[in-house]
Amino acid sequence: MPIRAVVYASEAATEIAADGLGQVQGKLCSIIDDAARFNRDAGVTGVLLFDGTRFLQYLEGPEDGLSVAYSRVVGASSHTALVELQRGRVGNRRLPFWPMRWLPVESQVLTRMTRADWTSFFQRGDATAPNASGMDLLLATVQQQVAAS
Ligand SMILES: Cc1cc2nc3c(=O)[nH]c(=O)nc-3n(C[C@H](O)[C@H](O)[C@H](O)COP(=O)(O)O)c2cc1C
Repeated sequence: MPIRAVVYASEAATEIAADGLGQVQGKLCSIIDDAARFNRDAGVTGVLLFDGTRFLQYLEGPEDGLSVAYSRVVGASSHTALVELQRGRVGNRRLPFWPMRWLPVESQVLTRMTRADWTSFFQRGDATAPNASGMDLLLATVQQQVAAS
């Protein structure tokens, strides 16, 4: 079954951003629980990076499930200024582990990822290279965060 993916950046609504990274709880946790429940049924997996004020989310799955999950994302009032960075087919899943999980990231890491090249979700294979792709940076960040947690 062909797998599609979408990645976007957005700004957290005030009630989520107000506590910053120090006290992530309440609203963000209920968003993740709700997202994971929906995504599991829809066959969607991915990750949500949060720097305390901004999100970058990567989602992948079958076209029908992904498009409904993404329309829920687009319709959510808990974030604003959503900018889609890339949407399209991927050969195979890159993040098959979680129906949804959030991970903390530093602001400069999120900024760099937002500005990186996401064309075709390609991987150059070296996240330390100055021209590392968005996918390189995302996967390296996820690996680091998971190893640290
Ligand atoms: C940053 C963010 C990420 C989300 N990710 C998903 C997702 O992966 N799948 C999904 O079905 N819904 C997702 N949602 C929707 C939420 O699970 C929830 O339904 C929605 O935020 C509730 O509406 P509200 O934000 O207007 O209160 C997301 C929402 C936000 C704000």
